Amino acid sequence: GEEQTAKPSQEFDDLISTLPLDEGLVPMRLRQYQGVWIPEHFLRGIIAVRQRFTARPDDLLLLSYPKSGTTWLKALAFTIRTRTQHSLARHPLLSLNPHQCVESLDRLFFLGKLSSVEPQPSPRIFSSHAPYSLLSESIKGSGCRIIYVCRDPKDVFVSRWHFNAKLGSKTDKEPIPLARAFEMFCEGVCPFGLIWEHALGYWKESLGRPGKVLFLKYEELMEKPVANVKRMAEFIGCPFSPEEEKQGVVEELVRLCSFENLSNLEINATGVINAKAPTAPPTFASFFRKGKVGDWRNLLSPKMAQRLDEITQERLKGSGLTL
Ligand code: A3P
Repeated sequence: GEEQTAKPSQEFDDLISTLPLDEGLVPMRLRQYQGVWIPEHFLRGIIAVRQRFTARPDDLLLLSYPKSGTTWLKALAFTIRTRTQHSLARHPLLSLNPHQCVESLDRLFFLGKLSSVEPQPSPRIFSSHAPYSLLSESIKGSGCRIIYVCRDPKDVFVSRWHFNAKLGSKTDKEPIPLARAFEMFCEGVCPFGLIWEHALGYWKESLGRPGKVLFLKYEELMEKPVANVKRMAEFIGCPFSPEEEKQGVVEELVRLCSFENLSNLEINATGVINAKAPTAPPTFASFFRKGKVGDWRNLLSPKMAQRLDEITQERLKGSGLTL
């Protein structure tokens, strides 16, 4: 839908204007909040969610570091959970972008659309990019379920780089050079901070509360989509019946949500996004680029790749998580 700049809320503006600011990543303004760099627009939403969102035990929240497969996760989770309401042949995903099927909680709250959140019937599905440390007690304590998707930091950086170029078309300021963007990513001066810290927060929680936090990897989804979709359905509490499996429902669902299928639909190929927010891309096609594992090879030098791999090893050491 139509997006507008939210009416300024004095309370948030006062707080946010005191936080450290970084404007290197044009057109985004990043603010550092509790140690994490967050786009200013999103931060207002994240703070508002912390203060005002009441989670329900049957809410499903889709969490991710941006460019890790959010769009795909939304399509899959939405289709799995609503499959008794929508036949795959006449499915909302055929005419709506996944971000219209599962809305970002942070964005809704930033836009002041609280009124559309409360009345939604259960079970609700929302997304957020918030790090675990910034989730509210309401969310952590409600017992609602969280699915987190992560991805190889090299591919995330490359995906972000291309996405930023699309955001850059909304401004006439010079884009920053690749080497500088790479440094900023390594240092966590980029949307939602250090990718390793973001993933570790949810990783630890998934070990402690496996029934409530499911931790997925983009690469594993790519390699074994059917097995992972079954896992998601079980986790959400709506496993596929033997009849559904026999009829090939899981495979069909995977096909519906595939990059190939979604990216070629009219809404996703040509849909324009009328959003003023500097973090919103101009078109829905911006969410679909290549959808491949390992595309970092086409942008990163071997040295850069090695550097990221070293940081990944160092930062994840002893956690049991590999990326
Ligand atoms: P690439 O830029 O590497 O192609 P997010 O949804 O978190 O913004 O992440 C975007 C990345 O996910 C992009 O990666 C995009 O192409 C990819 N993507 C989008 N839809 C997908 C799908 N249905 N299956 C696989 N990858 C998808």
